[in-house]
Amino acid sequence: MSVSKITLPTIQLGVHDGPVRLEDLIDRAALVELCESFRSLFGIAVRVFSSEGTVLADLSSQHEVCAFVGTSARGRAACGRTVGAVKVIEPKGDAMVVHPCFTGNAYRVAPIDYDGRRIGRIVLGPFLPAETDWVPSALSEVDPALDAEHARRLLAKVPRAKGDTITRLVRHLRASLDLILFSGHKTLLTSQMHLASVRESYRQLEDKGAALQEAFDKLKALDRLKSNFLATVSHELRTPLTSVIGYSEMLADGIAGPITPQQADFVATISEKSQQLLTLIQSLLDLSKLESGTLTFRSERVRVGEVIDDVLKTMIPAARKRRVELISECEPDLPEVAGDAERLRQVLTNLCDNALKFTPDGGAITLRSRVLPAAVTEDDDDDGGFALLAPVRARIEVRVIDTGLGIAASEREKVFDAFYQVDSSSTRQYEGAGLGLSIVKRIVDAHGGNIRIESNTPRGTAFVLELPAAHA
Ligand SMILES: Nc1ncnc2c1ncn2[C@@H]1O[C@H](COP(=O)(O)OP(=O)(O)O)[C@@H](O)[C@H]1O
Ligand SMILES: [Mg+2]
Repeated sequence: MSVSKITLPTIQLGVHDGPVRLEDLIDRAALVELCESFRSLFGIAVRVFSSEGTVLADLSSQHEVCAFVGTSARGRAACGRTVGAVKVIEPKGDAMVVHPCFTGNAYRVAPIDYDGRRIGRIVLGPFLPAETDWVPSALSEVDPALDAEHARRLLAKVPRAKGDTITRLVRHLRASLDLILFSGHKTLLTSQMHLASVRESYRQLEDKGAALQEAFDKLKALDRLKSNFLATVSHELRTPLTSVIGYSEMLADGIAGPITPQQADFVATISEKSQQLLTLIQSLLDLSKLESGTLTFRSERVRVGEVIDDVLKTMIPAARKRRVELISECEPDLPEVAGDAERLRQVLTNLCDNALKFTPDGGAITLRSRVLPAAVTEDDDDDGGFALLAPVRARIEVRVIDTGLGIAASEREKVFDAFYQVDSSSTRQYEGAGLGLSIVKRIVDAHGGNIRIESNTPRGTAFVLELPAAHA
């Protein structure tokens, strides 16, 4: 006997492990509801089993005739055998199986197939086949003591149905079940497809992450190589260069005998250029030490005002040559800064050298310093909640202001990168390798300070340096 059913699309369930199970496809509550409405419509008990024999829905109650048979021990045992036998019936193909009960009742077992696979069974019954009107001899064979006439009266109360009516009922039930299976299938597929796509994007992300990590590691290795190269080369250049400088000084001093004015001129040029080269090499060495974190900083109390005066004093000859005015506007009684005076001088010297270099003749360079109004800084947050109780550290601001070229807003972050110069063309008229500001930035960072660039009006640049004051 064939059972009509909705043909389900055969989709490979790719990510599902093992065979599809009825309990995975079906919504239990919907299944129970379906069986319940079936039972209340036709009065016939329904049970649904998974392929492993688990009961997924059980809509049954004991009939009076069964209760009566149960009053006899042999009747109870026979009933148990019947129910046991029905439970394990495995219908072949699409065929339904009829299993008679010794009381005259019958059970109908129908397969639930899905995607060509057996995933469960429906058991209908007990019901009374329409043609049965007598108590079969089987009942008295089980226990002759049972009253056959009483059994017949009770049997009449069991829902009666013709064989093909039952077949139609089962078909109807199967059709409804297929609908539930179909929507369950859809949900399962959707969630599995979602899972698969999530897994796929995760896998892609992992691949990309690995590729990025690899590129990052390579870059890091290259960067290390570059730093090592810079450190070695600079070191190796410095030694012979100090000899060049030393010998040219000796020549200039006439230690090797008197020299002509022209020779003295040449020697002075050798000396000057060698000094420039030495400064560059020193910058390279500083940078490589700052990058590798091997530059050590002294920790002393530094009076910023004194450093500023010092730097300005050394600037005077060069500034005078270019008719650039040097102005110092320092607040008196500035708090001290904790740090390395020599390195802070290097910072200000670099900023002033730039200011002078990029300011046309006749301009002005101002160094202005003041104490900033106290504010809780990020550093103080390290005190873990006690920041409010702790005395707030003052900050000291130093501005190096010029009336020169100015730096476009879009360049202000980049000029702190090593070797970066706003104008790096070959026709560039300014000397320098683009290392000064990168060194400045690293030294300022190491002091717990920060540096930024602002515009000076009407023209020029202001480098704004902030340093935390030393603890009182
Ligand atoms: N005061 C300034 N005015 C205008 N441009 C400046 C000033 N200071 C620095 N710059 C720009 O920033 C670049 C980087 O400066 P720096 O790192 O000191 O390198 P260098 O002085 O060797 O060129 C300079 O080449 C210049 O383009
Ligand atoms: Mg410079």
